[in-house]
Amino acid sequence: MPLSQPKVLIDRNRISQTVQDLGKKISGAYDGENLVAICILKGAFMFLADLIRCLTIPMKIDFIRLASYGSEQISSQNVRITKDIEVSIEGKDVLIVEDIVDTGLTLAFLRERLSTHRPKSIKICALLNKPSRREVDVPLDFVGFEIEDRFVVGYGLDFDEGYRGLPDICYLEEATP
Ligand code: IMP
Ligand code: MG
Repeated sequence: MPLSQPKVLIDRNRISQTVQDLGKKISGAYDGENLVAICILKGAFMFLADLIRCLTIPMKIDFIRLASYGSEQISSQNVRITKDIEVSIEGKDVLIVEDIVDTGLTLAFLRERLSTHRPKSIKICALLNKPSRREVDVPLDFVGFEIEDRFVVGYGLDFDEGYRGLPDICYLEEATP
């Protein structure tokens, strides 16, 4: 399917403002003793990097990589871990940092999986939310932007591993011939 040039949906200034706001909210929501932010690779790496610089409380970070089979646009139900966390989260306040919530299957799986490590709490921070696509209910504690059902790239998000370095959140659509 030929795709159009990426078009800006949310520009870098709006992203920056919203990330600062999220940083304030998150800093106020924890006592600052126990926080471990877990970034879902690869898409959330840029968001995590900006977000933790807006936190005024100490925290540790870790990374987890989840994969659903195939590189097509449609999320698969077959989620698996390809790189697990390395920091202990037992008794800790876990904040999952995700780029975008679509069907919710990835986060539902991860929440369940992380809860087996017996953390004190698990909250979710997602930069983007596409509520119209939800298949399973998953509680989102901090959300940057709600967007319509569009395929977005940039600011860490990819299509077939491309576009991650775009500084704005852009959308792709089928090119008109
Ligand atoms: P879910 O399990 O359907 O909620 O899928 C979430 C994952 O699908 C995200 O972490 C992204 O990796 C990917 N994804 C969903 N929608 C988009 C999109 O519009 N652009 C890029 N990746 C997306
Ligand atoms: Mg992702």
